[in-house]
Amino acid sequence: MSFSYPNGQQVLHNINFDLERGKTYALVGPTGGGKTTTASLIARLYDPTSGTVLLDGKDIRSYSPQERTHKIGFILQEPFLFTGTVRENILYGNEQFQNYSNEQLADVIQQANLDGLLERFDEGLDTKVKASGDSISLGQKQLIAFMRAVLRSPELLILDEATANIDTVTEQLLEEILQNIPETTTRIIIAHRLNTIESADEIFFINSGQVTRAGSLNDAVDMLLHDERTS
Ligand SMILES: Nc1ncnc2c1ncn2[C@@H]1O[C@H](COP(=O)(O)OP(=O)(O)OP(=O)(O)O)[C@@H](O)[C@H]1O
Ligand SMILES: [Mg+2]
Repeated sequence: MSFSYPNGQQVLHNINFDLERGKTYALVGPTGGGKTTTASLIARLYDPTSGTVLLDGKDIRSYSPQERTHKIGFILQEPFLFTGTVRENILYGNEQFQNYSNEQLADVIQQANLDGLLERFDEGLDTKVKASGDSISLGQKQLIAFMRAVLRSPELLILDEATANIDTVTEQLLEEILQNIPETTTRIIIAHRLNTIESADEIFFINSGQVTRAGSLNDAVDMLLHDERTS
């Protein structure tokens, strides 16, 4: 598969890899290397310029948008929120819990181990969020996106980490939640932290539009260091 942004130069050159259900993958590599782009193609935010993305062996284009939303949760580096409450934002695209009272929803959140995240908001589910401006921090935006994705119980969860904006306590919470989501959930984590990279089943190094499987954590670190020296 290859990919160019509209009117842009080619960003991914003939990449080819497959992922197994239930495994955790870390994508690492330098800024601008193509990690977010690769994840965006896996979630069909874009279509490849050539080649195909297969989901459960079927062309990802053959699924309806609704089916894709159910199967894939994507927590973007710059999450998309709209003006409203935390509740409205975390239930976006989620029919299952739409009619739950705040109390019922709080139970669901607790069962999903997400209550620690909700505590980061002064007024809980009723905390007001604005689409633009800085009513909440980028870290909090990611927490909302995270709750939104986990509550949909996706088969594939993609997390584009924005660790710089999340404090260490919250970071540990995220770690725990990631460990407690169903084992069958496939995880792709764009990782900046060593912890995440260490706990991955496989590591992909993405640079200059190429995706390379790193055999081990040491290989990945070597690739990152080598890259820093040569660029
Ligand atoms: N929307 C876009 N339109 C055009 N070019 C883009 C767009 N988004 C990214 N690019 C370009 O594609 C390349 C890969 O970017 P990408 O965002 O995938 O990198 P990344 O590995 O996620 O980087 P970072 O670690 O900084 O998040 C870069 O050269 C970038 O400038
Ligand atoms: Mg990125």
